[in-house]
Amino acid sequence: MRSKKKWGLAITLAMVMLVSTACNSSNGASGTNQASSGGDSGSTPATSKTITLGFSQVGAESGWRSANTKSIQDSAKEAGYDLKFSDAQQKQENQIKALRSFIQQKVTVIAFSPVVESGWDTVLKEAKDAGIPVILTDRAVDSPDKSLYKTFIGSDFVEEGRKAGQWLSDKYKDAQEEINIVELQGTTGSAPANDRQEGFMEVIGSNAKLKVIASQSGDFTRAKGKEVMQAFLKAHKKIDVLYAHNDDMALGAIQAIEAAGLKPGVDITIISVDAVKDGMQAAADGKINFIVECNPLLGPQLMEAVQAVVDGKEIEPRIVTEETTFTSEQAKEALPSRQY
Ligand code: AHR
Repeated sequence: MRSKKKWGLAITLAMVMLVSTACNSSNGASGTNQASSGGDSGSTPATSKTITLGFSQVGAESGWRSANTKSIQDSAKEAGYDLKFSDAQQKQENQIKALRSFIQQKVTVIAFSPVVESGWDTVLKEAKDAGIPVILTDRAVDSPDKSLYKTFIGSDFVEEGRKAGQWLSDKYKDAQEEINIVELQGTTGSAPANDRQEGFMEVIGSNAKLKVIASQSGDFTRAKGKEVMQAFLKAHKKIDVLYAHNDDMALGAIQAIEAAGLKPGVDITIISVDAVKDGMQAAADGKINFIVECNPLLGPQLMEAVQAVVDGKEIEPRIVTEETTFTSEQAKEALPSRQY
């Protein structure tokens, strides 16, 4: 009886050891992937099963962009993908170089957020010829050949512009005199700059009192937003409204407005896009009057799309991000639980 019990114990122990050895070896593999996830380049060689994702980011121009980068790096790590991340510093030529390098490295999937809309056809054809699927995130390209990429995941920027325009039109629906608007555009030629302007103009066009008196690019950065707003203030005596294509430019402009002895949000009504924490804080403080949300947390949706493409599953050609808007009061309420 006693020797039967001993044998039973010995067999159970042997099984536990076998299972634990198997688990350790699979953890070892995913540990390797995790170490390379989110790194700048030169990550550990992928095993045959590892998905290698080449991602070319626009740059680090705004709070939105930093949150977007973090979302992509965190989600790739969680999915166990080998992420090759490249920062283009707002330059198309750097992105084209990065895409070509991903093609050379034979990554499984390429994803990128194109800094501008035009000029991608050649490199996208090169990826297609190499049999590497491409996914667009955040910003679109204007290539007529939609077979050059699998899907485009991101916001509807035209709709964002419409929401900004609608709020302004409603605010000034009974205006008796002309309302002078200055516009801080995003990066010239980029999808959000083109589309946010288009949507805004489409809506305010129906209110004859609303006039855009000046419009210039602030390249989506705080420094440029401040610089261009200073020039607007010098050139125009009466500015009623600032429409900024993102929070960072609005925040830079607020510094210029305050330096000119004016009260942002009171003397000049301010509308912006993004709803990142600093923008929401300015809204809660009454310095920004209305923010249209643009959600940067695209990482989880991107990783799902990558997996679907690798598995050969059908994928929607356009995946639109859900977004909302915030008045100052709503920003105050939402701020404590804001993720980015
Ligand atoms: O493409 C999204 C835009 O790019 C964000 O609104 C802006 O902040 C960013 O730089």
